Amino acid sequence: MNLEDLETHFRFGDNWQSYARTIAEGHIRHAVAGLRELLPDGCAGETFLDIGSGSGVHSLAASILGAKVTAIDIDPASVKATHSVLASHGFSGVVPKQVSVFDLNPVTFGQFDIVYSWGVLHHTGDMWRAVAKAADLVRPGGRIVLGLYDKTPFCGFWRLEKAWYSKAPKISQRRARAVYMALFRLKCVLAGRSFSKWIAGYDSHRGMDYYHDLHDWMGGYPYQSARPSEVQGFLRARGFRQTVFIPSGVRIGILGSGCSQYTFLFDAQAV
Ligand SMILES: C[S@@+](CC[C@H](N)C(=O)[O-])C[C@H]1O[C@@H](n2cnc3c(N)ncnc32)[C@H](O)[C@@H]1O
Repeated sequence: MNLEDLETHFRFGDNWQSYARTIAEGHIRHAVAGLRELLPDGCAGETFLDIGSGSGVHSLAASILGAKVTAIDIDPASVKATHSVLASHGFSGVVPKQVSVFDLNPVTFGQFDIVYSWGVLHHTGDMWRAVAKAADLVRPGGRIVLGLYDKTPFCGFWRLEKAWYSKAPKISQRRARAVYMALFRLKCVLAGRSFSKWIAGYDSHRGMDYYHDLHDWMGGYPYQSARPSEVQGFLRARGFRQTVFIPSGVRIGILGSGCSQYTFLFDAQAV
């Protein structure tokens, strides 16, 4: 997929620009904590490639932890959001680039201590080729961190919904979100949970925001998903050893899937 294929994509970047305007200290603290969970040995002084940087809040978290960050995204609005989030927190030296993961060549672009791609590669239209591309950018002894949607029995339905939503007028998108939220509230009631507490505490999810994440979920197209065993097998065959695994916890997926999170270490001799 090349930059021309951006037309078939959901407008991720517009959503991230809107979220970026709301980022507060609490979001950043949770983004840092989320990154620490996936990189328990830290990342200070390491080269860190953020593929599909979106709002830039995780590039910011990595910069705060002392990593030398390179950020890329296919969507120019995401690139702008990342740039302004980094610059407004004192990291104006990190200049994100508009480029597709499919156009990154380790010979010319280099290899990194850490390749981070959270919630991205399943939105590229060719997930396994994208995972292979990202893995090629990890230096021997380096780490790859991924967030990828789990496969559920409802993924086929959600793919169709996203194909529709990503091209639907704003008013139809708003109605679709209202229906979704009504169903989600019902689920909370049945489970004896408080919907408003869920929303209020949502920034504990890597510093994210419920309403922006909902728009991203409803519209995130292209859409693919994977079983953790498929991801683990795919990377094991390329010489990677899993060091962290945080399952999404989603099983049936009527109201959507969730991302399982992975960190793998690249042991080039194991290939
Ligand atoms: C769901 S957002 C995730 C953003 C961020 N990583 C996070 O965790 O919040 C997916 C991002 O991937 C970007 N993206 C999609 N396809 C891409 C590609 N082929 N190359 C680079 N970025 C891509 C989108 O533009 C979007 O900003």
